[in-house]
Amino acid sequence: MAPDASIVLSGVPETMLWTLYNRAAETARDDRLIVDPMAVELVGRINYDFAARFGKPSVFHPIRARVSDDLICRYVDRCADDPVVVALGEGLETQLWRVDDGRVRWVSVDLPEAIDVRHRLLPHHPRMSLVATSALDDTWMDAVPSATAPFITASGLLMYFHETEVAGLLGRIAKRFPGAEIFFDAIPPFFSRKTLRGLKVTKTYTAPPMPWGIRVDRLPLFLDRIPGIGALTIQTYADPFPRRTQVYAFLSHIAFLRNRLAASLVHARVASAHA
Ligand SMILES: C[S@@+](CC[C@H](N)C(=O)[O-])C[C@H]1O[C@@H](n2cnc3c(N)ncnc32)[C@H](O)[C@@H]1O
Repeated sequence: MAPDASIVLSGVPETMLWTLYNRAAETARDDRLIVDPMAVELVGRINYDFAARFGKPSVFHPIRARVSDDLICRYVDRCADDPVVVALGEGLETQLWRVDDGRVRWVSVDLPEAIDVRHRLLPHHPRMSLVATSALDDTWMDAVPSATAPFITASGLLMYFHETEVAGLLGRIAKRFPGAEIFFDAIPPFFSRKTLRGLKVTKTYTAPPMPWGIRVDRLPLFLDRIPGIGALTIQTYADPFPRRTQVYAFLSHIAFLRNRLAASLVHARVASAHA
């Protein structure tokens, strides 16, 4: 058995432990949406009081993980050539091991302190490369194999940027990767404002500021303004598994509430050739 691991993270990189904890807790449920034994093993091994820090486990991170797993699996199945997945802000996601078909090449991009933790705690994988840089620094694009249009996922990342940074990043992805698929999630503006005031999750944990919030009904226009990008599906977290989000799913049928309160899951595509 691997030894206990001590890690010191703060600010946005610490949020990787929050999502890890929720994936591990989800795996233990009878009605689980994802099976992530590596997350369970890591939560057992990392010397960190997850429950005290983050409180009751939530289904929302597992919903995001499951929706992106399904999209990536479909992309991988469709790829005649070796599929390429780029995971921006990957933290301690173990998604490669959940979706691997034996061919997929994986590029994991995160800040240096996060990549250091990933490097220390996750096993080496021959088809995964780790890139220690900000997703806003385009040098990661040079690490992406060029034969296939990649699938680029950014789960739990873009809300930590400003709107101009998000639009700029998506625009540069569109220019560089014709035909790529993109997955990301977005929080609503009211929630963004709460985090800017200091959102206390538990007595000991305050979520980091999340400057970018956008209403689910404003996402199509936002994406339309980025040359080359077209939305494939935009849904709320309540849409894919309503049985697991009952009250939220019920409220989300009321357009006024849905548009103001819902967080979004976005699947988009870059046009194959564009100006
Ligand atoms: C909420 S966690 C999400 C981790 C993972 N995607 C998941 O769903 O479990 C946010 C991640 O974004 C990373 N991050 C924050 N700012 C970043 C940046 N400028 N560039 C790349 N990654 C960043 C953090 O280090 C952290 O791993």
